[in-house]
Amino acid sequence: MATLVWPELALPADPFHGHALITGATSGIGLAFARALAAKRCDLVLVARNEDRLAATAVELRNDFGVDVEILAADLADQDGLAAVTRRFEDPAAPIETFINCAGHGLHVSLLEQDTSTIDSAHALMIRAVLILGGAAGRSMKARGHGVIVNVASVAGLIPMGAYSAIKSWVATYSESLALELAGSGVHVTTLMPGWVRTEFHQRAGIRTESIPGVLWLDADRVARDCLRDVARGRSRSVPSKLYVALTCLAEHAPRPLVRRVAAAIRGGR
Ligand SMILES: NC(=O)c1ccc[n+]([C@@H]2O[C@H](COP(=O)([O-])OP(=O)(O)OC[C@H]3O[C@@H](n4cnc5c(N)ncnc54)[C@H](OP(=O)(O)O)[C@@H]3O)[C@@H](O)[C@H]2O)c1
Repeated sequence: MATLVWPELALPADPFHGHALITGATSGIGLAFARALAAKRCDLVLVARNEDRLAATAVELRNDFGVDVEILAADLADQDGLAAVTRRFEDPAAPIETFINCAGHGLHVSLLEQDTSTIDSAHALMIRAVLILGGAAGRSMKARGHGVIVNVASVAGLIPMGAYSAIKSWVATYSESLALELAGSGVHVTTLMPGWVRTEFHQRAGIRTESIPGVLWLDADRVARDCLRDVARGRSRSVPSKLYVALTCLAEHAPRPLVRRVAAAIRGGR
């Protein structure tokens, strides 16, 4: 699998400075990005729904790294919450230089369910909010001629594992398209494609994980650090760990009947 590098978007040695806005910043991968960017001396804007947890996370990050931390409590699946976060990208006094488009949740529902409300709300969070916030970030960064956007997709988007896979497949295609649309503008877009990462994700969605071999689990801090390194190298896609680079290659190039058989085996273990 060839990794696409945009030579015209060769980034400065350290592209991370100023304010970084992270959605889903109180847990798992988003929190790991918050820590990694604070370690690079970025000031932070943390977004999630639970205000108490946001406030506690902000105190911890200020104490640990000495950076400024704003919090924005918002449900991104809700129009008003999304609008409030969108407006933050338009603040010229403290522009967002790095945007981590991360908030999301697992989805363990049948595609045959008559009640699609769970899938509808997942679409609002992981498609609509990703699109609206990515557009707001892209517009303001393009106007300034620089910036970094990371969209969190998933290896699951490469294999047929239900509504979640379909959503993450959309995120990956969207993210690559955004990179193309912003090519030459000074704004760099990277698509993060994690495999299984130890976070609250599976427990929150009621997904059983006992059948997943230990070797397939990734550490969230490592995923975030490696992704920021890939961004600094100008990579348009970040796949954490050599094992997942190989599995991604298989998912994209192996015969589809084989891919479907593997997906069916994984589904059976959940
Ligand atoms: N863990 C994995 O194995 C894995 C693999 C591939 C991709 N991913 C993707 O990585 C991203 C982060 O997942 P994670 O594993 O870090 O999960 P996590 O530990 O459950 O964290 C999810 C974060 O998103 C926030 N969030 C959830 N719903 C929200 C909403 N409606 N509005 C605003 N914020 C919301 C949560 O805070 P509140 O509950 O307070 O809102 C929390 O901060 C997701 O997009 C997920 O699809 C995860």
